[in-house]
Amino acid sequence: MPLTVIVGVSGGIAAYKSAYLVSALKKKGYEVHVLMTQNALKFVGAVTFETLTGNAVLTDTFERKEEYDVKHVSLAKKADMLIIAPATADILAKAAAGIADDMLTTTLLATSCPVVFAPAMNEAMFADSATQHNVSLLKKRGYYVMDTGQGLLACGDVGSGRMKEPDEIIDFAMHVFKSLHDMAGIRVLVSAGPTREMIDPVRFLSNRSTGKMGYAIAQAAINRGADVTLVSGPVAVEAPLKAKMMHVVSAAEMASQMLRLCKHADIIVMAAAVADYTPETVSSLKIKKGADMTLNLVRTKDILSELGASKKDNQLLMGFAAETHDFEANAKTKMNKKNLDVIALNDVSRSDEGFESDRNNIILYYKDGTSQNLGSESKTILSQHIMDVLKKQYQKMTAR
Ligand SMILES: Cc1cc2nc3c(=O)[nH]c(=O)nc-3n(C[C@H](O)[C@H](O)[C@H](O)COP(=O)(O)O)c2cc1C
Repeated sequence: MPLTVIVGVSGGIAAYKSAYLVSALKKKGYEVHVLMTQNALKFVGAVTFETLTGNAVLTDTFERKEEYDVKHVSLAKKADMLIIAPATADILAKAAAGIADDMLTTTLLATSCPVVFAPAMNEAMFADSATQHNVSLLKKRGYYVMDTGQGLLACGDVGSGRMKEPDEIIDFAMHVFKSLHDMAGIRVLVSAGPTREMIDPVRFLSNRSTGKMGYAIAQAAINRGADVTLVSGPVAVEAPLKAKMMHVVSAAEMASQMLRLCKHADIIVMAAAVADYTPETVSSLKIKKGADMTLNLVRTKDILSELGASKKDNQLLMGFAAETHDFEANAKTKMNKKNLDVIALNDVSRSDEGFESDRNNIILYYKDGTSQNLGSESKTILSQHIMDVLKKQYQKMTAR
């Protein structure tokens, strides 16, 4: 049986590229149906898609083109994959709000198949906090929202907001499809975010970690059916819906949760930026301003070392090395010293990637001496690559 792919086309200038997308999907042998919004019809005619797919294009839920079944439900059930390309700011907002006022949005609500959005819009529209909020809400609900590409936009601006190329969309969608549930039954423990080391009731020592990398890793594992526990320091990122959340504040709390939960994990990813030092004493009262003061700091527990030392057979441990210099040497030393299976090196000296950014630049080093450069990508995409690697390593380890 060929896969049934629904392509949803909404009203953006990139709708013309969807004709290529649909044609390429047909050439791969898939059964393709196209749903268009009323506004999409102003950009490309339905006849183009009807000719390419051999199926009627549906727009209006009340339209009765062929049979008298309830089309949005029958298509929603039949679909193996729904790709919305281009996804306008409007369709992202409707999807986030659960609005179902045409064939595309109604089918979206009715389907349980994986859904990929390929956003396309002006850079400012994409960066707007409403759109960003909608994107993060959709991701949290398990939808796959692709990044946008860089380049010349239809409005004449140069920036990000371009729809990814049709071949990239197909590769992304097929990767999603193939990896669905391939980690079912695997227990993944992830730590994320910074810790806070209190000085007095109002002041603390912390770091620039936002938790985005760890949260993206947790989401990538959830998307593949893993059973995920996320131990998180204080962050402003929305928790993935299906993660078991453990909220902690200090390095000591992070240590106690991780060392307790590690016994029940098959894969552990330590992405949290845990403080190495904490004040020797915490003042119970707010320290008043006065003469210069000296803060005595003591070492916190080295969680990664303890996880490495107590690692069970068939347990995979990955750590992160956030470095500003001597990158490879520092990462490899950390991996060997702490008995890790994999370490992800990221250069945190750059202002555009790493801490406080949606992007990162990662090189993975493995304990057998090999390495893999994942390059500079969004944290979402990097997390998918990391999950590919961890799944393969875990399978290799447990097959022995
Ligand atoms: C020429 C033109 C180009 C447009 N391109 C985009 C676009 O690339 N992305 C977007 O989000 N909206 C774009 N819009 C605005 C949408 O068409 C508008 O928000 C519309 O309500 C979207 O409807 P739909 O999401 O139901 O298809 C464009 C409008 C015009 C007139």
